[in-house]
Order: sequence, then structure tokens, then C-alpha cells
Amino acid sequence: MDGPGGARISGKHHDRVLFMACNRATTTPPTISANGNSYPPDSWTNVPPSILSYLPRKLHLQPSHPVSITREVIESCFPPPTYTHYNDLDPIVSVYENFDSLNFPPDHPGRNRTDTYYLNKDTVLRTHSSAHEAEIFRHNKSAGYTISADVYRRDAIDRSHYPVFHQMEGARMWDRRKVEGGDVARVAREQLTQLEEHDLEVEDPNPTIHPERNPLQAEHHRVEEVEAIAAHLKRSLELMVNELFSRAKRRATGDAAADEPLKVRWVEAYFPFTSPSWELEVFWQGDWLEILGCGITKQDILINANVPNQLGWAFGVGLERLAMILFSIPDIRLFWSKDPRFLGQFSTADDIKPFVPFSKHPACYKDVSFWLRSSSSAAGGGLRSNSQDFHENDMMEIVRDVGGDLVEDVKMIDEFAHPVSGRKSICYRINYRSLERTLKNEEADRLHEGVRTRLVEKLGVELR
Ligand code: DAH
Repeated sequence: MDGPGGARISGKHHDRVLFMACNRATTTPPTISANGNSYPPDSWTNVPPSILSYLPRKLHLQPSHPVSITREVIESCFPPPTYTHYNDLDPIVSVYENFDSLNFPPDHPGRNRTDTYYLNKDTVLRTHSSAHEAEIFRHNKSAGYTISADVYRRDAIDRSHYPVFHQMEGARMWDRRKVEGGDVARVAREQLTQLEEHDLEVEDPNPTIHPERNPLQAEHHRVEEVEAIAAHLKRSLELMVNELFSRAKRRATGDAAADEPLKVRWVEAYFPFTSPSWELEVFWQGDWLEILGCGITKQDILINANVPNQLGWAFGVGLERLAMILFSIPDIRLFWSKDPRFLGQFSTADDIKPFVPFSKHPACYKDVSFWLRSSSSAAGGGLRSNSQDFHENDMMEIVRDVGGDLVEDVKMIDEFAHPVSGRKSICYRINYRSLERTLKNEEADRLHEGVRTRLVEKLGVELR
């Protein structure tokens, strides 16, 4: 996953194939029903029935599921009554909640139909748990909260990306009117001293506030307030990471690495809804892994939510990424498995042990090459008004729709432009492999034929 699922939100971008291809027929489905409501489709609608079928699954609430166990460990770090835990908010949200309420600019790439599932132009499947921030601030039930949520993004296919995953969000506010003398800085510092210590090795080389890279919201916050709230934020999240990883390490005793202190580092970041902002990375099996995004909540979000006197911190974290580390789960598809050989291996948060993979079944690689339509603007030709993006995510979705969880990954292995016409050709390699059984070559062939047919039908490509 892109960190907490955030690469696109933070403004960093992965390389994606984006070519212009010519107009393709779009089929608008009849009304879309989901979670008991109907949504009139329009030209923005792009959510397939296969994706809507995930809404009832709620892995984060399924007892003894590793995603749910990970949620419970995180919740235990943010106990009531300071923190209220919200776990069953509707994944269908307005574009306003998912983007506008959080200060996403109108041209932010996260809003693209290539990246986000739209029920219609005003309604999306939430792309992050932050979609509920403003509503919960407005509700103002307790000083802090956590949210756990299934979130939806159009994305690549590989062992760590799935169009549905889970995030957790947390926040903690202080009310200037409710603390003595309005001195939030002093109170946050005092509460920091009440948090436990830990023995993580923490690298935090940057100043809390940097005028260009990580600015203070100067019109709303005092430096001392932000210093104190940031210190409270960082310790709270370090304690959370410590809790999660020490559970995973405990089981690894005997392994020399288990005795070394866990290393984490704070990195400056950007989110439209916090400033200053950071990411927390953990050093795990030789790599720095981005675990979460966080920061000081933008004051205009709190003002709009009718709690202008509050200020504080918020964070968001991806649960699958954590669970894959904690339980040594090698492939994100496994979370969706109903196979008792998978589900039967997990019990409670007190008993985190590594998943023992059932046998690795053979892979079946199949290639598909195609020409994008010749009026592609890559050649500089064609009527722009008539042309349409070919986006890799459209191709990924077709592969998912046809192959479901029998596809392990899809990689682009070749791409070139015709020297004269400028027409683009791309070749993808699809790896068909079941996690549960040996896939027969004929079955993979049938799936692959289905993919090829749909690519032509839906994307108007010409197979080679
Ligand atoms: N929503 C962000 C994401 O999906 C994660 C995040 C970052 C949440 C910072 C926050 C936050 O609440 O303050 O990547």
C-alpha cells in the first residue's frame, strides 16, 4: 500500500502509465444500490458490482481476523473515555466529506476517476478514514477518537495492493476554553508526562516547525502550543508502534534481531488537512517502512466543524500493512480468504504468531500485448476533445474483474511507440496463481482469454 495509503494524498506520485487513447464507449448501469440506498448513476459512475460486493465483509470487525486483531491492539493504545472508538461508519460518503471538507484542492489527483470509485459525481467509496474527521469533530463527543474503516482505491495489482483495504484514524483535541488560562501548551505538556516511556530508538532530526517545508498555521496557533501537541502526538504514536511491534518481536525470541531495540524515524510530510505534518517509519527486516501519516489538524477544518476553540493532532494508518508485518502474511489477498487454513491460524491480540503459509502453488504467467488506439495524442494527432485517457488502473480493474483473487500481480514488461505513427504498444505480464489450490493451465487460459476480450471491448485497444 502507499503508506497509510497516502502516496496520492500526500502529493507524491508513483509512476503510472497514462496515455491518451481515443474515445471509448461507456456503459452507464441502471441505478446503483448499496447499503440500502440507491444512487442515480451519471458520467462519473465507475464502481463495478464486484467492488460493491466487498461492502458487507467488514474484515476489521470480524472476530479473530488479523485486520481486526490489529485494530484492537491500536484501540488499546487509545482507551476510553478520552477516546471514543468508531468502527461502523458508512463507507459511502460524499465527495465533500472525502475531499472538500479536508481541504483537497479541486485539481488534486486523488479526485480522479482513475483513482477513486465514484457511485456518481457527488458520491464515492471513501478513499481514507479521514473522510469522517469533520463529522466527528462536529459531533464532539470526547477529546479524542479512533475510527476503523474499509477504504477503496483503484490501484495496481500485486501482493501488497488490493482495491479494498483498511485504515485507522485517530485524533486528540484540546479546547482552549476548557483548559486553565486557555493554556493548551501547558496542559498538553503535562499530559505528555503522564504517557509511558518506551525503549524505541527514535530518530527525529527535523525541527517541529519549518517555515517552508512544514509550516506553523501562524494565524491560529502559537509555537509553544504546536511544540507541545506535536510532542504528545509523537509519543502517543511511538507507544502505539512499540505496542504493535513488541508483540511481533516477542515471538521472534531466539532470533538475534529480537534483542535489538526497534528503530523508528520521523520524516517531514505533507497532507492537505494537517500542518505541520509527519510520517513515521519503522526499520523492519532491513528496510525503512512507512507506517503512518499524521500532523496538527488544519484549523479551518475545526472552524468549519463548529469547534473553533479546539486544536490538536490526527493520524492515519493502514491496517493490512501492519498486519502483514505483525503476522508475517506474504500476500494481501489472503486477508479475503475464507479458507479455514488461513482463518484458523489467528485467535486473539495476546497471541500474535507468524502465519504458516500453506504450500505455495505454481504460478501461471500469461502476457497480453496491445496497441492503444491510433489517434492517441502521444502521436500529437487526434482530436483532443475526442480522446480519452488510457490509465493503467482501468486495465487493472478488468483483470481483477475477470480473474478475481486468482491474479497475484500484473506487471508492465514492455512499452514502445511506433517510430512512424507514434502509436503506442504495451505488454503486460499477468501472474495467475491461486493461494489455495493448483490452478490448471486451461483455467488460466480461459481467464486470460476473458481479459483479452474485455480489454478490446472496454478500452478499445487492438490486441497484437
Ligand atoms: N488520510 C491519510 C492517508 O490516507 C493518512 C492521514 C495522514 C490521516 C495524516 C490523518 C492525518 O488524520 O492527520 O494517507
